[in-house]
Amino acid sequence: MVNKNRILVVDDEKLISWSLATMLKKEGYDVETAASGSEAIQKFEEFRPKLVLLDVCLPDVNGLELLKRFKAANEDLYVIMITAYAHADSAVLALQEGAEDYFGKPFNLDAVKHVVNKAFEKTQLKKEVDYFRGELRKKSDQDKLVGNSQKMIEVFKMIKICADADAKTVLVTGESGTGKELVARALHMHSARAEAPFIEVNCAAIPENLLENELFGHEKGAYTDASKRHKGVFEMAEGGSVFLDEIGDMPFLMQAKILKVIESKRFRRLGGQDDVEANVRIITATHQNLPKMVKEGKFRSDLFFRLNVMNIALPPLRERKEDIPALVQYFIKTLNDEYGRSVEDTSPEALEYLMTYDWPGNVRELRNCIERLMMLEQEKTLGSQHLSAEITQSRGEVSRTLHQNGSSDLSGEHILLPPEGISLEELEKLIIQLALKKSGNNQTKAAKYLKTSRDTLRYRMKKFGLGENGREEGEEETGAAEPPLSAGDGYRFA
Ligand SMILES: Nc1ncnc2c1ncn2[C@@H]1O[C@H](COP(=O)(O)OP(=O)(O)OP(=O)(O)O)[C@@H](O)[C@H]1O
Ligand SMILES: [Mg+2]
Repeated sequence: MVNKNRILVVDDEKLISWSLATMLKKEGYDVETAASGSEAIQKFEEFRPKLVLLDVCLPDVNGLELLKRFKAANEDLYVIMITAYAHADSAVLALQEGAEDYFGKPFNLDAVKHVVNKAFEKTQLKKEVDYFRGELRKKSDQDKLVGNSQKMIEVFKMIKICADADAKTVLVTGESGTGKELVARALHMHSARAEAPFIEVNCAAIPENLLENELFGHEKGAYTDASKRHKGVFEMAEGGSVFLDEIGDMPFLMQAKILKVIESKRFRRLGGQDDVEANVRIITATHQNLPKMVKEGKFRSDLFFRLNVMNIALPPLRERKEDIPALVQYFIKTLNDEYGRSVEDTSPEALEYLMTYDWPGNVRELRNCIERLMMLEQEKTLGSQHLSAEITQSRGEVSRTLHQNGSSDLSGEHILLPPEGISLEELEKLIIQLALKKSGNNQTKAAKYLKTSRDTLRYRMKKFGLGENGREEGEEETGAAEPPLSAGDGYRFA
């Protein structure tokens, strides 16, 4: 189990600690025992329990002293005192010193079990209330990742692999608006860590001098204003996930510290003497090109290689346009709920425009577009009259998406023509470009594919102002990732 709760039982009566430990282990807890104050201190440091069952009368030290010491080291520690009835007054003192509960000897094992189980429910609940309330709300519906294109199926597979393997670091990459944050949340929610917190830090939004404090927390007195110990997100997310968004914007010095946390699974609070264990999964995301930043010396290569072991790369929406109809339906539904509307659909013409456009702002832009249409349109069907000019003017430029069923024929049903029309010449130019691409810019092969002569092909290429490689003269090589071509590929003009 990822987040097994640790309990330390401190009692010098061996039979008592043995019976408590046996019962608690059966309940699924990780249990250690100590028979004296000094042993308890040592075990407390090594084992870092979340709950201590503590006898008041120990041979070498008063249990109340230990209680104070443990509470000072970890204010969230849950302490249950065990006292002989003869010492009922010490129970009161213990509660004053911060113990949560006490039992008089002899006690009923079932009663202890009940209190311990409740204690963990309570601390879990507190965590949820403090850090998790918003996340739980999001869990219900908003983390739904819509898409059934092959590329998204690959993404879902990767999420599952990372979640099941409890991968300690995962890097999510993709252009802005492709759903990186949703993926990070989905990964958390579908893993064994789902019940523990998911805490997000936007590295770009927090000033450099505050970031370390935010992540690692500080000890009381670490600096002038530090009147109390403050927990950082690595501590708050114990057992769960820390999502470092915009990791590309993390200052260079902090990058080294993060690498250290990943490698040692420990960190130190500001002003602290001791390391604290970090039982968290670190999910990072960026829309930036990290390999390029590494080359430019802006991102540490060692951190990049560490993070890149598990990479979930989100494809831009223009490379998976077949997801658009489902996304549109999903946004109509969620926005209906949000605004109390009852929109049903888009008109076929509007959908064609939406499928034609390249969505540089990806899914976020599509969502905003649907929201805008719903604001401007009062009908149950969203028409195209309120679509913005960029969308209606996109005119199906050479936006090629790999045809998913692998068919190579260009029969009508695979050609999605721009709604406002396209000239035959433009179409011809497009087909020539595709044929050249398909044949690796081999004009003889391309001509053969188009069932024409090489001369005719050259004549037409010249007429359309296409260079040797099929690009328009003067057009720059963009390096944009295009789908790899093979003989069987079909295309959709979208
Ligand atoms: N596959 C999807 N299914 C449903 N909604 C999605 C999907 N992908 C993205 N969204 C929605 O699009 C919007 C942007 O997603 P998100 O914030 O996750 O993008 P991002 O990649 O983190 O962007 P940025 O780099 O700008 O931070 C959100 O409203 C999100 O809910
Ligand atoms: Mg984001």
